[in-house]
Amino acid sequence: MADAGHTVLLTADQVKDRVAGLAAEIRRGYPADTSLHLVAVLKGGFVFLADLARVLDRPVTIDFVAVSSYGAGTRSTGEVRLRQDLHVGVRDRDVLIVEDIIDTGETLAWILDHVRAGGPRSLRTVALLDKPSRRTLDIEADYVGFTIPDRFVVGYGLDHEEQLRHLPYVAVLDGAPAEREAMTAIVSEVSRPAS
Ligand code: PRP
Repeated sequence: MADAGHTVLLTADQVKDRVAGLAAEIRRGYPADTSLHLVAVLKGGFVFLADLARVLDRPVTIDFVAVSSYGAGTRSTGEVRLRQDLHVGVRDRDVLIVEDIIDTGETLAWILDHVRAGGPRSLRTVALLDKPSRRTLDIEADYVGFTIPDRFVVGYGLDHEEQLRHLPYVAVLDGAPAEREAMTAIVSEVSRPAS
């Protein structure tokens, strides 16, 4: 794919500050001696996991699960397929699922069922981004970084046709001219957590 145009929605500094804030919320949510088992959802979750793990200031173990719910386009198909299973069992672990984004909620629901079947001691979820307007299932993450409008976002692990995952910020893929003109309003819609 040619280098698609995009407009920054959340700067690298905004993301960094919010990841630190999420880490503080997560620390407060568990007893001080809890070792967390972080399970990132690939591929998109790899950047968020790397940053979160380094600011959690807790002992952590790491695992990955890879699923696909999107086709090659910009909309979810609602179909979840397992591409790579967990490498270690979750029994008696305090598992925190690390997602880059919740859209329809189909992926998170599937992964929660999958992990829960392994018998973890506790099971919670953190998502950097949340698009509640797209939800088809009644599901929420325990910790959410930013609530965003229904726009196709890229960067910070998120792709468009496998490109743009490396961007250190979150951006909206540019569309028609009208879409570009609407960006100022869209950016101002992004809900930021209370400090
Ligand atoms: C994206 C994202 C979430 C999921 C959310 O993954 O990383 O895992 O979709 O969508 P949902 O709430 O509608 O299920 P994707 O399937 O694009 O795979 P990728 O992370 O490998 O790009």
